[in-house]
Amino acid sequence: MRVIINSQEQSNELVAMEYVKLLKDKPASVLGLATGSTPLGLYSKLIEHYKSGAVSFKDVKTFNLDEYIGLSSEHEQSYRYFMNKNLFEHIDIDLKNTNVPSGLGADEKACEDYERSLIEAGEMDIQLLGLGTNGHIGFNEPLTPFDSVTRIVKLADATREANKRFFSSIDEVPTHAITMGISSIMRAKKIILMVFGAAKAEVVKQVVMGKPTIAVPGSLLQLHNNLDIYLDFEAASRLG
Ligand code: F6R
Repeated sequence: MRVIINSQEQSNELVAMEYVKLLKDKPASVLGLATGSTPLGLYSKLIEHYKSGAVSFKDVKTFNLDEYIGLSSEHEQSYRYFMNKNLFEHIDIDLKNTNVPSGLGADEKACEDYERSLIEAGEMDIQLLGLGTNGHIGFNEPLTPFDSVTRIVKLADATREANKRFFSSIDEVPTHAITMGISSIMRAKKIILMVFGAAKAEVVKQVVMGKPTIAVPGSLLQLHNNLDIYLDFEAASRLG
């Protein structure tokens, strides 16, 4: 595990350079992507690097971590919509190579199909993650088993509360999501966890310095042999 502490701006640039380097070496990479506030700066940098000709996503395949149950891809808060608006529409990726679990009609078979397509695509070259204030990764909430795979989950109250900022009221925040599991995430060749802001300083301490435990899903990432954690100064402020 490497913990890299910088400003948010510099973290975004350093992570963007990781992608530029990877895609130069391996244009047909498989990328695991995340949504939420955290990766927005990184995605802007990737778009800049694409526009400057430094990188192409033409042969890249992507898999997103999760999607809200009940939201269609046209819903402005759906993660498919987020990915199209904040990244895919601005780069040369073939939309057919982008995978976001569907929030409509998701059932056990849809979960199995998503997991199978992940496995068939080969190991993800980089899995990008953000961290919930309760330690979740993807929508794997506290006490998710280590061997979990793609499935439908009930969102923790803390998660719905944290994400209500994107909706007009808490009642509109979906109660369930489809998410890759911890074991789906751990199969990646490399994991990059990005965490910003003072509100996550306490959970970052548990993730980085605590014993790996399913009570704090992010702490299980310590068991991965190629993990880079990018923090801003505020998120790192409790590391001592
Ligand atoms: C998003 C995801 C979530 C977020 C986490 C942090 O696809 O899987 O685990 O990464 O909730 O969200 P932000 O970045 O909005 O603080």
